[in-house]
Parts: sequence; structure tokens; C-alpha cells
Amino acid sequence: PPPGWTTTADVVVIGSGIAGLTAALRLRGQVEKILVVTKDVLSAGSTQWAQGGIAAALGPEDTPEQHERDTLVAGAGACDLDAVHALVTEGPDSVHELIALGTRFDHDPDGVLSLTREGGHHRDRIAHAGGDATGAEIQRALTAAIERAREIEVIQHALAVDLLLDADGGVCGVTLHVMGEGQRDGVGAVYCRAVVLASGGLGQVFSQTTNPAVATGDGMALALRAGAPLRDLEFVQFHPTVMYLGPDSRGQQPLISEAVRGEGAFLVDFDGNRFMQGVHELADLAPRDVVAKAITRRMNETGRPHMWLDARHLGAEFWERRFPTILATARSHGVDPVTELIPVAPACHYASGGVRTDLWGRTGVPGLYATGEVACSGVHGANRLASNSLLEGLVFSRRIAAVLPAELRPWSQPVADTRTAGLVPGAVRRELQEVMTSRVGVLRTADGLAEAALMLDKLAGAVAEEVGQESWEATNLLTISAALTDAAALREETRGSHWREDFPDRDDDRWAGHLDAVMADGET
Ligand code: SIN
Repeated sequence: PPPGWTTTADVVVIGSGIAGLTAALRLRGQVEKILVVTKDVLSAGSTQWAQGGIAAALGPEDTPEQHERDTLVAGAGACDLDAVHALVTEGPDSVHELIALGTRFDHDPDGVLSLTREGGHHRDRIAHAGGDATGAEIQRALTAAIERAREIEVIQHALAVDLLLDADGGVCGVTLHVMGEGQRDGVGAVYCRAVVLASGGLGQVFSQTTNPAVATGDGMALALRAGAPLRDLEFVQFHPTVMYLGPDSRGQQPLISEAVRGEGAFLVDFDGNRFMQGVHELADLAPRDVVAKAITRRMNETGRPHMWLDARHLGAEFWERRFPTILATARSHGVDPVTELIPVAPACHYASGGVRTDLWGRTGVPGLYATGEVACSGVHGANRLASNSLLEGLVFSRRIAAVLPAELRPWSQPVADTRTAGLVPGAVRRELQEVMTSRVGVLRTADGLAEAALMLDKLAGAVAEEVGQESWEATNLLTISAALTDAAALREETRGSHWREDFPDRDDDRWAGHLDAVMADGET
């Protein structure tokens, strides 16, 4: 149907976490009209949930080269070297820019920036805020800056539905479903000259995730439908230490930051054995995929639904000062980490893949840029190094803002959209999560992946009776689940966070490259 309302902007930024707001703030003054759209309120995305912090070579003994080395080791041979180089060399400046913007990171009593360590890092290089509330502080500072920047328009409660493309296949607009009141209610169109996609990840593909409910892969699905290739989708990171709340708990689960292990906590099984010792030289602080696999392995061996994190020796005073958010959350679920072990199990945490970009955030569609978790810039490879994600959003949004103004496309008209909607009902969400968790989760096999593909295909046959946010989200989740399952089935090896039980080894001869997902003709 024709849009119910229309407006224009030179650049539309989709998403309001660290990546989207940095892009908008950096573009200010360079392009005339910037519009930020976000599916919920400005602060509802994943950024505000980040606990551990933001990694950069900021310590006196650290260097970008060491940060680069750790990033490449974690990425298990699948990182793009130039992208990693840009990330680590531009990292310190980018963090200083956040500080200049008003972000209040933690400092020691002498006024020196406090830095901690997380899995896979050989140096203390994680800047944090409010102890374990780093993302919330960064989001606060960025949201305040956007609210001060009155020339940047914001539309909240606006789900980006699809890109509008011109006769050259370039971006000339985006359709939005606004769940609000007043003039811009329902489906409308923004005609524009460029879109910066910064809409975050896909955690809701799985039944248990650290991601908020809004992380439904919308940006990746929208890009795929517009013809932009996705890359490395099979590399979904499972965070090793997510609080286990029982077999029936679904959706967003409480994260127990790796920084807790960085400060000395360790994993034990039901007999009290410290099973990470001997698995890796960094033991409990091994890269995340190694720890997630070791926990899953021990859970399978012992038939238990979780393992334990022991952080009792940190003591009440330290817990209250350093990890106040985690402490309060654990206590609200009936576990006191000062006196009790915390039940933990891996859960979906981060999409290392996404919309394929070059070093400047350009995607396969002219005028479409991508940054942050929705993007695959190549910095994470097969397994993102802890606390590199906030940094990626910062660095690559700055890079986009450095090139986009000079590349702005002339205004153009959309061609008729021949894609059919093919929306599935919102109820499909829960069913696909079950399929993805049981067959495309931490452990994968050819048989399980083939079953998942069939089941997803069946779910795609359901037809939504009502068009709205729930059916759009379920449709996007289904699109991404199918592409992820295909990629996981194709990659017959184990690498980083992609773990094939039937192909347990890394195979550099066959699988050193990447898998790109594209939408075939006729698919929706
Ligand atoms: C954590 O605090 O453990 C999460 C950090 C990250 O995902 O980078």
C-alpha cells in the first residue's frame, strides 16, 4: 500500500546505540538533515546492557599491536587484517572522544583511568563505568548529546521495514512502521540520500540471550531483502557465563560479565573441580568460545543444565563497589554471589557476522552503510574478543562519517517494489527460537542443521493475519535464522564460535574464507 505519510532527510540513521548515535553526531554539520529512527525509545538497544566495558590500548604498557594480536587470536583466522588494524589504532582516540562527550569512566583514587581484563586479553585494557554499568553510562552520555543536538531529528517507536531503491539499485528511502500517535502513525516513507544501518544484533533468534527483546535482526533482514550480502552469519557468539534461571526461562537473561572472572572469579563443576585449568593457558580467562565450549562439554558430560561461577572470595565490599548491577540482579533472582555460587550456562550474546562492509562501512548497496553489531566489518572473525563491540561501533561510525558526506547520492525516485511481503505471524517467534536453540546453538551437526532448515521452511508457510511489529519481527527473525542455518551447514569445520560436532577440527585448507548470504530471486 502507498505510505500513509512521507518526509525527507539527507541521511537516515537506523538505530540508537553507540554506533547509530556516534554516526549521527559525527555527521552533524556535514550534511543538512539527519534523522535518527529507533524501534523503541533511544536507550532500549543492546548498548545500555554492556557490562564489562570498552577495549582499547589505553594502559601505559599496552600498545595497539598487542590489542591487534589478541583480537586476531580470538578471531581464529577469520578476521580482516586491515579492519582490525583500523579498530585497534583508532581505538584510543575514539574512547577519548567519548570521554570528551561526557562519558564518566571509572578512575582509581589517583585519578588514573581504571582498566580491567577479560577473556582473551593479555593486558588490562577494558575501560568501564559505574563498575559494571559501562553501556548504560555510554548510552546516557550519547543520548544526552543527541538531545542537545536539536538539529538532529529523532523518531522513536519506528520499525524500519524496507529500503526504497532507485533504478540504479541505490538507496533512495526507507519505509517505517511508526507505532505512535499524531501525524506519523502507521507505515510511512522517508525519502533520503543515504541510510546508515546501526540497528544491532539478532540475539532473539535463540530462546536464551543476553540481548534485549528488540534484537530481532531487523537490519540484517532488511539489508538482505535490498540485495546487500551478509557475511559470517554462522559465527554467533555464546557468552559463557549467563545466569541460569531454570529450564523455562526465555528471552533476555542476566549476564555475569567476564570482568568478574577478570577480577578473579573461576568456574567449577558440581564436584567443585576448576575445569578450565588445563584447557587453555589463560584458564578461566581463555577466549570466550573456548570457555563456552568447555562449559557446554562439562554440562553434557555430567548431564547438568549449568555449571557454577565462584566469586565468593571477592567479598561484599568489592562486589558492591565493582559489580553493583550484577550483584543486585543476582540477588533479585535469589542468589547472593558474596556467599553462594552463581549458576551459569552459555547463552546467545553477539553476532560476529552481519551486513558485509568495507573499511568505511559501505555495504553491497550504494548509499547503504552499516556499523556496529548489524555490520560485518571483519574485525571479529569467527569469535569477537571481549569488549571489542562497543569499540567497533565507535570506530566504524567515525569512519562512515568521514566518507559519507562526499559520497551523498543525488535525490532519486524509488522504482516499484516487486518484493512480496510474505509476513509470518508473531507466534512463529517462539517456535523458531526452540528450533534454533536445540539445533543451531553452541553445538551443531549436519543432521541437526538439516532438521532445522526443514522446520524453518515449514514455519515460513504460516501467514500473518495482522501486519504489525510482531509479525515484522518474526519475519525478520525467520529470514535471518534460515540464512544462519544455511551458513552453519555449509561450513564443515569447527572454528571460533562455530562448533560442528561432526567436523571437530579447524580446516584452513577448505575454510579459511568467508560465507556470504544473498537473497535468491523470489525469496522474501
Ligand atoms: C562482558 O561483560 O562479559 C561482556 C563483554 C562483551 O561482550 O564484550
